[in-house]
Amino acid sequence: MNDLERYFRENHKRPINKWVHYFNIYDRHFARFRNSEPVILEIGVSEGGSLQMWKYYFGNKARIYGIDIDPACKAFEEDNITILTGSQSDRQFLKEVKTIIPEVDILIDDGGHSMNQQIISFEELFPHIKADGIYVCEDLHTSYWSGFGGGYKRRGTFIEYSKNFIDLLNAYHSEQTGLRVNEFTTAVDSIHYYDSMLVIEKKKRDRPPYSEKTGNIPMNKKPPSKGLRLKLYYAKQYLIKQANSALRFMGIKGFIKS
Ligand SMILES: C[S@@+](CC[C@H](N)C(=O)[O-])C[C@H]1O[C@@H](n2cnc3c(N)ncnc32)[C@H](O)[C@@H]1O
Repeated sequence: MNDLERYFRENHKRPINKWVHYFNIYDRHFARFRNSEPVILEIGVSEGGSLQMWKYYFGNKARIYGIDIDPACKAFEEDNITILTGSQSDRQFLKEVKTIIPEVDILIDDGGHSMNQQIISFEELFPHIKADGIYVCEDLHTSYWSGFGGGYKRRGTFIEYSKNFIDLLNAYHSEQTGLRVNEFTTAVDSIHYYDSMLVIEKKKRDRPPYSEKTGNIPMNKKPPSKGLRLKLYYAKQYLIKQANSALRFMGIKGFIKS
């Protein structure tokens, strides 16, 4: 059992409400921030217990922020825990939040869990996550629950919205104009889907990924490194790409191997 789950199970302080399998996921992604001075933001304060849990886990130097629509949550402020009152689906409020709190190491969205709330919070606050920070959206099962605007492959759910992240993560490899490198591609290192939870780890990617080959490569297998042979090699790659675009355009399933 990790420290977070132990704290949760032995908790005699303010109530915490979490799905139990989340604790391993938290620990896997959050451990590297322990005993540094992370900025933690949790949307959804409820009775304040999870904010106290973060304070215990990350240590006394962590700065913990909570957002809740319920003004009564303000009462749960204490040393190193600050509560901001407002709605996570109010873009104006979230813009103000960004002027009040520093860039965030870890954001945990455990708020209202409706589609709009999750999407708007992501759109407004993801850019406010540090370059090596983490964005967590919890309780994604609401994407399948009609009472929250969910449904299997239903347009507008957070799950459907987030499936596009997979394409954007791989956009450096796209040959089609419909998928281009954007600020998500260059900011994100990895996306982790768990039952009911999405974890996005940021890391700056300033250039496209590249592969290298090492070992004892026979001369006749070496790619051309300069001159006419290199030009011919690129021309061939270009022609194959064009031909495959044409095949795709004509709806032909086959393709020419490069
Ligand atoms: C699931 S509880 C949070 C549980 C808490 N993080 C914990 O682990 O104990 C959800 C909280 O989100 C808040 N909430 C609901 N809609 C919200 C909104 N639009 N903006 C901000 N908070 C909201 C509720 O007031 C409630 O306190």
